[in-house]
Amino acid sequence: MTYHPSTVAVHADDRINITTDVAPPIHTATTFRYPKNPDDYEPAPTEGEYLDLSTPLVYSRLTNSNINRLETVLTPLIFPGAKEDQLPSLGNHVVTYSSGLSAFHALLVNIVPKVIAIGGGYHGCHGVIDLHKKMHGVKTVDLHASEAEWDAAGLGKGDLVHLETPINPTGTAFNIASFAEQAHRRGALLSIDATFGPPGLQDPFAWGADLVMHSGTKYIGGHSDMLCGILATTNTTEGARRARTLRTERLFLGSVMGNLEGWLGVRSLRTYDLRIKRQSYSAEKLVRSLSDSVTSNTTDSEIVKKIVRKVEHASLQTEDFEWLKKQMPNGFGPVFSIYTHTVDQARRLPSQLKLFHHATSLGGVESLIEWRRMSDTTVDETLLRVSVGVEDWEDLEGDFLAAFKALLEGDERSVQTRAEVQVGQEGAAVPEAGSGVV
Ligand SMILES: Cc1ncc(COP(=O)(O)O)c(C=O)c1O
Repeated sequence: MTYHPSTVAVHADDRINITTDVAPPIHTATTFRYPKNPDDYEPAPTEGEYLDLSTPLVYSRLTNSNINRLETVLTPLIFPGAKEDQLPSLGNHVVTYSSGLSAFHALLVNIVPKVIAIGGGYHGCHGVIDLHKKMHGVKTVDLHASEAEWDAAGLGKGDLVHLETPINPTGTAFNIASFAEQAHRRGALLSIDATFGPPGLQDPFAWGADLVMHSGTKYIGGHSDMLCGILATTNTTEGARRARTLRTERLFLGSVMGNLEGWLGVRSLRTYDLRIKRQSYSAEKLVRSLSDSVTSNTTDSEIVKKIVRKVEHASLQTEDFEWLKKQMPNGFGPVFSIYTHTVDQARRLPSQLKLFHHATSLGGVESLIEWRRMSDTTVDETLLRVSVGVEDWEDLEGDFLAAFKALLEGDERSVQTRAEVQVGQEGAAVPEAGSGVV
């Protein structure tokens, strides 16, 4: 029997329950006792053998109960068509890491490409590649360059084509199947950073991906309170081999998730299906409302038009709908971007909003907006990235309109919209009222 995502997110780990707790227990141990009976010992695997999920718990840098449970629940979400009896072995194909970037680093350590084709996208992944350039001189070529440029860069067997879709920060999407074809024709591998189009919205393996990566910090965590990275390999013998190697290499990279983060991840996945559908739906409603305003003449739209120059999101790529609606049949993701007319408008809009935190990151239940120049030096300075949370989209729409009006009126609505508590090492420091902390 194959259950729906909302069901597996609650029940995929039933088969590993050994206590009667309904909410999973939190395990904090870093080391685990060996069996009492010497006949039951399983000595460390020798060279050529690999670790997998059935390896007994030894030391938490290898794995621990909480992250085993997290990987178990992630498996049917990442492999939506898998039958129940396939899931225990498929669980080995989903490997979690301490962050999205540590997952990307692990991917490069595993493949050791000589050439990587990569486009724009999350600047942190380029930072990881820079480290690999320093260590062993890996070369890069633009993902969107011509075949001749890929040839000149020498991209071929054993190399890597890395595609982020939808892409950070705009939320626009690319055709996975066409990059799969280009990569495979040259004997290269295709990895997809699917952080912006997580399980339920797209299945990159269905379109030819060899590896799928996520910053699980975003929608998998979903509550802005845990870091997580994920790599998944294909449901093939080759995928199984690669995943076992990834698991072994993770032991030496030391980038395993913390015990408590693993537990938080399981807590988060229980509501994953509800969150991702709702957030993606609301984003599409907001995108439609804002982009329609840019081209219409109602009183409200006249206000929107004075601030918003352009909106970008995969839902607006109507010219690509033939492949895009197949690749993302259930929604186009909860992140979109707004370009204002002036840099000053982009800079001042976030503090006029009441329901959006001005912060980086995305994927949480709370809506965020970021003047992207705060964290990325490479972007258009009029760009604001919006991550839609689980609030009612019409309230968010109203908040945008009120903020646009306030910005136009020069009405400096109190920027002290929330009492933020900044927790320092020594304890909590509550900002004074009116101190301007946003
Ligand atoms: C598309 C994308 N990939 C990777 C990452 C890195 O993830 P993490 O912050 O969990 O290391 C991010 C972070 O924003 C991201 O947006």
